[in-house]
Amino acid sequence: MKVGFVGWRGMVGSVLMQRMEVEGDLPKHDWTFFSTSNAGGQGPMSSVLADAEDLEVLSSQEVIITCQGGDYTKSVYGTLRAKGWKGHWIDAASSLRMDSKALIILDPVNRDQIDRALENGTKTWAGGNCTVSLMLMGLGGLFDHGAVEWVTSMTYQAASGAGAANMKELVAQAGYVEAKTDGSATALDLESRVSELLRSDEFPTQSFGHPLAYSLLPYIDSEVEGGQSREEWKGMAETNKILGMDSHIPIDGICVRVGSLRCHSQAFTIKLKEDLPLDEIEGMIKEANNWVRWVPNEKEATLKNLTPTAVSGTLDVPVGRVRKMNLGPQYLSAFSVGDQLLWGAAEPLRRMLGILEERQ
Ligand code: HSE
Repeated sequence: MKVGFVGWRGMVGSVLMQRMEVEGDLPKHDWTFFSTSNAGGQGPMSSVLADAEDLEVLSSQEVIITCQGGDYTKSVYGTLRAKGWKGHWIDAASSLRMDSKALIILDPVNRDQIDRALENGTKTWAGGNCTVSLMLMGLGGLFDHGAVEWVTSMTYQAASGAGAANMKELVAQAGYVEAKTDGSATALDLESRVSELLRSDEFPTQSFGHPLAYSLLPYIDSEVEGGQSREEWKGMAETNKILGMDSHIPIDGICVRVGSLRCHSQAFTIKLKEDLPLDEIEGMIKEANNWVRWVPNEKEATLKNLTPTAVSGTLDVPVGRVRKMNLGPQYLSAFSVGDQLLWGAAEPLRRMLGILEERQ
């Protein structure tokens, strides 16, 4: 297929390139790599970069994959379609997710919907929000079995979700503190010095606007009506769209940025429709896909396997801390971790390209 790639150099784009290299996807296609700033320059695979605003070259592609961000999508997608371009648009950004012509893609979770949409002529595909995709990779089995009445998801989101500059800033913040403290001071003196540094005007906060290292930020994305943040709003809207539910499952929670680099974690409270035995729940979760990893609710297994440290850079989505809560036999707790750059961003796009390739 003739495939155009915009935003291949950014963080999500680079992870997608790496994944396609590892999986041997690159030689399968005739690639054009686009650039918003360096058209004519040297691109990957000995290519010459095309201009990402050049509608003619864009129109000659059968598929366009973009990790360039929402502003690019807003400036180019509508114009291309208005010009009559009928190719497949695969987008990492959120701009088109709730568009009625677009499907939010998460193969294997909604592979049947992807196939149906292809039959029906859908040509616009959007990767989901990372916390939503990671929740569904972990808990998809419970949704598939119709076991869920509602969910709260309290998130612990990595710096990478805010962008590459933010991820670097987290490390710079930790480095700033390290350079300006004396490890031999007492714990209390150390804490007081660190708090003083975090509150000082010199503390590096250009990207986040606030200290994240040695702290956390309980607000992600913009404000929406009703007191939710946009990240929290996406939880219910996108999950139900991905699952193609007739009746909406209520999902809500508080999304929090923490000092993890690229793994998002989530603590769930799940209200089950009925009091199911734990071994059945375990079976549903484990059997949903090839990447979910069941972690027994034991201290050692949890601390070894259910952390950003264990998961970072892998496609595994461990789910653990599963137990019935004191709230009643229909209330389940669970915790999951996933790499937000892989299943949370790049991998669903790569798999969509693979599905289009299979159908050629
Ligand atoms: N909105 C997510 C975050 C990024 O801020 O972590 C990926 O969807």
